[in-house]
Amino acid sequence: MTEDDIDQMSYTDFIALLDETNRCPGGKKTIRRIRELIHIDGKTNILDVGSNTGFTSLELSRITPAKISGIDISESCVSQAEKSLSEDIGSVRSRVTFQVASSYNIPFPGDNFDLIMAGGATGFMDDKSKAIHEYLRVLKPWGFLVMSPLTYHTQPPQKMVDDVSEIIGTTIKPMTTKDWINTVDEISEDFEFYFSEPHKLSPRISEEIDEYVDYFLKKDHIKILSESVKDAIKRRWLSILRVFNENHKYLGYSIIVFRKRPVVEEPELFRST
Ligand SMILES: C[S@@+](CC[C@H](N)C(=O)[O-])C[C@H]1O[C@@H](n2cnc3c(N)ncnc32)[C@H](O)[C@@H]1O
Repeated sequence: MTEDDIDQMSYTDFIALLDETNRCPGGKKTIRRIRELIHIDGKTNILDVGSNTGFTSLELSRITPAKISGIDISESCVSQAEKSLSEDIGSVRSRVTFQVASSYNIPFPGDNFDLIMAGGATGFMDDKSKAIHEYLRVLKPWGFLVMSPLTYHTQPPQKMVDDVSEIIGTTIKPMTTKDWINTVDEISEDFEFYFSEPHKLSPRISEEIDEYVDYFLKKDHIKILSESVKDAIKRRWLSILRVFNENHKYLGYSIIVFRKRPVVEEPELFRST
């Protein structure tokens, strides 16, 4: 591997090289909040869509007694998730499974899950309508769909949007909480918007960013690389994180909960704001 390889590899390959843990927006705090907001017991059957390397499924199984099935289209993510699962304790191993599958064709019967955890994954799907109709099919009546997408609370300057888009290699469309609620509403009336909870992300001081970068440079598989390659990794990782940090002045995430509504209900006029 050379300096040029580091400079030219895609963002996804660069993150894979660093082996950074993929978390749902808000990480453990989001998962803890979901447990506080939604009743989950030993009979609760959960689907984790876009389970990636397993963070959400594993954490949910550690703090609830639920049964959890994770699906992801990426074979390498699923094998990494299975590896982490095999290293966890018995009561986690007995309640969690991972499989390679698409949200467009979920390999479970209809009316099967009490809760679908779709973290930040739906934003990565081109055909959101197909995925959301599949969520509806496999959810039990009155079952919950939970999303926790990254959402902008303040409109970012166009230069910020362009810089982030360039880093991740895809044009981002800054979405607000309302945009996400409208997206699901427009796709199906059979989902009732239940509630949302916005959270702001706070930018870190530059020393914390430096420490975070150093943490990656000390990983066993990185520290054995040549000095010039490590310098290139440091340069690229710092410049990415500085842009992301600036973006965090405008960015947050929202926990958004919908329910599969099996009956027609009257609208409610007087609601709290
Ligand atoms: C950012 S990660 C999500 C990580 C984490 N679960 C979360 O809650 O944010 C997005 C994941 O969605 C997966 N993904 C994208 N399209 C998918 C699809 N159609 N079906 C299943 N998984 C998909 C990707 O492979 C990736 O692992």
